[in-house]
Amino acid sequence: MIKLGINVDHVGTLRNSRGESHPDPYLAAKVATKYGANSITIHLREDRRHINDLDVRRICKNKKLTVNLEMAANFKMLKIALFNKPSYVCLVPERRKEITTEGGLNISKNKFKLKKIIQRLNKAKIRTSLFIDPTKSNIKLSKELHSNCVELHTGRLAGLVKKKKSFNVELKKIRECSKYAYKLGLEVHAGHGMDYKTAKILKPIKEIKEFNIGHFIVGESFFYGIKSVIIRFKKILKK
Ligand code: PXP
Repeated sequence: MIKLGINVDHVGTLRNSRGESHPDPYLAAKVATKYGANSITIHLREDRRHINDLDVRRICKNKKLTVNLEMAANFKMLKIALFNKPSYVCLVPERRKEITTEGGLNISKNKFKLKKIIQRLNKAKIRTSLFIDPTKSNIKLSKELHSNCVELHTGRLAGLVKKKKSFNVELKKIRECSKYAYKLGLEVHAGHGMDYKTAKILKPIKEIKEFNIGHFIVGESFFYGIKSVIIRFKKILKK
């Protein structure tokens, strides 16, 4: 069965819109785990627009939660990760003005820094993942940098599916990159912009071990409740 990682960032977005403490991303992480999420993703952004430092501390401190901390590849964030010791770290590109993570990492441009950060995380026994656009050169570089996993950016595919446009070229890229990454010994994850439809489309790619889904789950939970949304995803993800 493909693992389901749930990103609770947007519970933080909603909380921050009032500047108070409700709804609480920590409680969301606990409830999502109780109903079957295999891991909880949180993205500590430079501008702290959804998750803040205290959320990271509370969520990582609860060892019953499997936490995937998404963060920009810089040494300030590395320090925070090493202090909070999440189970996983996923390195992502970050531009301050973007609405959400727009593309994968530019690995060749940031090779030296990424290598150092991955080394430090590996040493601390934190599983590392690189969020990349699905290209073979990105995968080859991820392997060279000793990342444990790659997360393939599904945003483009998801956008095409939502607009009811042909997505076959993008799907082929993701399929071929998944196979290539798997062959090189990298664990393959996929995420961004995903919903039930995209999950059904990507599920047959047997090399993908984990989906990371956030915005859709938080939004859909408003209508149907998080328990039933997770149950529906888990049904789809059964191999
Ligand atoms: N994976 C990564 C690396 C991301 O940056 C995000 C967005 O924070 C997601 C998955 C989840 O994307 P979405 O909220 O569109 O499901």
